[in-house]
Amino acid sequence: MTVRAVRRADLDEVIAIDAAVTGIEKRNYWQRVYRRYGIGSKGEQRWFLVALAGGKVAGFLIGEVRDWEFGSPPCGWVFAIDVDPHARQAGIGTRLLSALSTSLRRTGVRQLRTLLARDNTLILSFFRSQGMMAAPMIPLEMDLLPDSSATEGAQ
Ligand SMILES: CC(C)(COP(=O)(O)OP(=O)(O)OC[C@H]1O[C@@H](n2cnc3c(N)ncnc32)[C@H](O)[C@@H]1OP(=O)(O)O)[C@@H](O)C(=O)NCCC(=O)NCCS
Repeated sequence: MTVRAVRRADLDEVIAIDAAVTGIEKRNYWQRVYRRYGIGSKGEQRWFLVALAGGKVAGFLIGEVRDWEFGSPPCGWVFAIDVDPHARQAGIGTRLLSALSTSLRRTGVRQLRTLLARDNTLILSFFRSQGMMAAPMIPLEMDLLPDSSATEGAQ
């Protein structure tokens, strides 16, 4: 198995893995991600990595360094990782995360973060197995209800 930067020719396989995992094919989204994290990412501390097994894309990971956001010194984020359901539990996810960690260390970053859904026990088990633990931060969110003043103004 090898891990390398994504190439345009990998995109169809990436899209297929994502669609298999999430049930939604998002071709336009992946084109945008490729433009942002695949090409043109040199020197910008962004990584879009693929793992190849038997000449096929078996998994991918996307991560980047975010500087001074959320009041934090430069920190690595992994915001997508997916392994082909037929290729799991063979160390591919570990290899992808390890490749990102190595790149982050080289840039001087000493911390890696991610966000995950509370009920996604699979990804939680995976990240815990890699040494990640609950962070001293909490995510917050709210529903953005329709703007009543805008609605009134339109009437
Ligand atoms: C999580 C995921 C990336 C793991 O990839 P993988 O290649 O199977 O992982 P690895 O083989 O490197 O496993 C490393 C460790 O993770 C944990 N792990 C992996 N699969 C697991 C499972 N099905 N159940 C429990 N723990 C598991 C184990 O601790 C494992 O170590 P072990 O093999 O010594 O037991 C993969 O299952 C996946 O893509 N899941 C869907 C991810 C997802 O929901 N993505 C959307 C949000 S970003």
